[in-house]
Amino acid sequence: MKFTDAMRWRYATKKFDPGKTVHEDTVTQLLEATNLSATSYGLQPFKFVVIRNQPLQDQLVASSYGQRQVADASHVIVIAARTDVDADYIGQYIDMVESERDLEPGTMEDYKSTMIGVVTRMSPEEMQQWSAKQAYLALGTILAACAMLKIDACPMEGFVSSEYNEALGLAGQNLEAVIVVPIGFRAEDDINQNNKKVRRPLEEMVVRIAD
Ligand SMILES: Cc1cc2nc3c(=O)[nH]c(=O)nc-3n(C[C@H](O)[C@H](O)[C@H](O)COP(=O)(O)O)c2cc1C
Repeated sequence: MKFTDAMRWRYATKKFDPGKTVHEDTVTQLLEATNLSATSYGLQPFKFVVIRNQPLQDQLVASSYGQRQVADASHVIVIAARTDVDADYIGQYIDMVESERDLEPGTMEDYKSTMIGVVTRMSPEEMQQWSAKQAYLALGTILAACAMLKIDACPMEGFVSSEYNEALGLAGQNLEAVIVVPIGFRAEDDINQNNKKVRRPLEEMVVRIAD
């Protein structure tokens, strides 16, 4: 399927078929693609929390303003921002890059100092916003990857982050739920799949600057 066709095929699925399961190999494929997302400095300040647990999924409906997608989906992927990005974390990242690229230790020292300067100057609120922006990059990738693999998904901001953090034990892992993505297969009677995809025309969306 061509990428644009895949993006036309996808829609924010409101009703999943609870009887259909995404194969674990496909979940892994989705996560591998999503893990290749671009992030600022390559720091990947988030984790993917993958839930396949019916009682927990049922419980999360109440923390999602009653949205049943989290219960009926095959898996629920929560993209959670890291709250522990500091000089140590950046140092570990640089060590990994130098090692993977067979660089002499210390080659990336200037880059590391720049990153540490930028990140450690952030207030906790700025850090939260910055990490959340990175998580949304992963959201875009996972939605596109789902479309290419013909997996249905619903991006969800409609949830109570503090309740998810509590239910999933995220605070103890220095994580905060930013965005929720149930994945699975659309129910035959999900009427939303028949809605025409509506987007503003390109000429309204694009500002061209050329000679
Ligand atoms: C960041 C984000 C948060 C969203 N939150 C919800 C949500 O909580 N529940 C829901 O049913 N749809 C949610 N949506 C789906 C949007 O309403 C949907 O993507 C938009 O109307 C465009 O429709 P389409 O994705 O079907 O093309 C969200 C989408 C995005 C990108």
